[in-house]
Amino acid sequence: MTDALLEAGTVGIAYETVEDEAGRLPLLAPMSEIAGRMSPHAAATHLERPHGGSGILLGGVSGVRPARVVVIGAGMAGINAAWIAQGMEAEIVLLDKNVERLRYVDHIHKGRILTLASAGLTIEEQLLQADVAIGAVLVAGARAPKLVSEEVVARMKAGSVIVDISIDQGGCFATSRVTTHTNPTYVTHGVVHYCVGNMPGAVPHTSTYALTNATLPYALAVARKGLGGALGDDPALAKGVNVYEQNVTNAAVAEAHGLPFTPLEHLIPSGA
Ligand SMILES: NC(=O)c1ccc[n+]([C@@H]2O[C@H](COP(=O)([O-])OP(=O)(O)OC[C@H]3O[C@@H](n4cnc5c(N)ncnc54)[C@H](O)[C@@H]3O)[C@@H](O)[C@H]2O)c1
Repeated sequence: MTDALLEAGTVGIAYETVEDEAGRLPLLAPMSEIAGRMSPHAAATHLERPHGGSGILLGGVSGVRPARVVVIGAGMAGINAAWIAQGMEAEIVLLDKNVERLRYVDHIHKGRILTLASAGLTIEEQLLQADVAIGAVLVAGARAPKLVSEEVVARMKAGSVIVDISIDQGGCFATSRVTTHTNPTYVTHGVVHYCVGNMPGAVPHTSTYALTNATLPYALAVARKGLGGALGDDPALAKGVNVYEQNVTNAAVAEAHGLPFTPLEHLIPSGA
């Protein structure tokens, strides 16, 4: 595909490398928001006995305890997962190694979501008590760290459910492998694994509007200012340019294909 883009002299902007000054990925955020919000639905369905789960109702009922949901990663996907699971009245534990993220959740949810600093032993302790484990970690530009070993998965409760949202980056559970909406789950060590690589694809109506809301301002800027003007005015958009005419302008793409790398600023004078 890279060869074809270069040969055609295309200017190619990749959604996943548009990055703002705070390191956020504005064109990926809506998909993480959707996958995060979908994950308690997937967990609730697969906790049901006919779907292989332990037969616990996610939110419980009066006098009967709800499911305990452990979410690893308090970024866009993880916070939304915890938010919706809390709305469904589950018991929630949210872990992240970034305490600032946890502080934000504490302020908003006022103690209704238990926040814990993420460390190997804490994750293990929490997962052994969990009915649902949701993996939502991201290390930018890298594969997801494997935070949960097969040995820990094997000791989780029978019929508990793992939803590994991070699966599109390799997954954060050692036992995760990518699945599709047609066949979303498999069981390993008695634990139901839901590891769909493109969760938002199941809700295309919402996903398309959410994505278009994020992309349209960039498209309008290009239409109004011309490509050079839009790229010169917006460093976030400029970071998205992977190929520019016959040049590879993204260092990682150049390295992956053994092609020469040309910084975009060598091709477009700043402020052009
Ligand atoms: N399966 C799908 O359909 C789908 C859809 C959208 C996004 N995703 C994936 O979901 C994942 C999360 O995306 P996001 O946008 O929420 O990312 P994000 O950057 O907003 O959040 C990731 C969080 O992980 C935390 N983290 C990193 N290492 C950690 C560790 N060792 N322990 C605990 N926390 C750790 C970070 O501090 C951060 O808060 C990504 O892998 C993304 O590709 C999957």
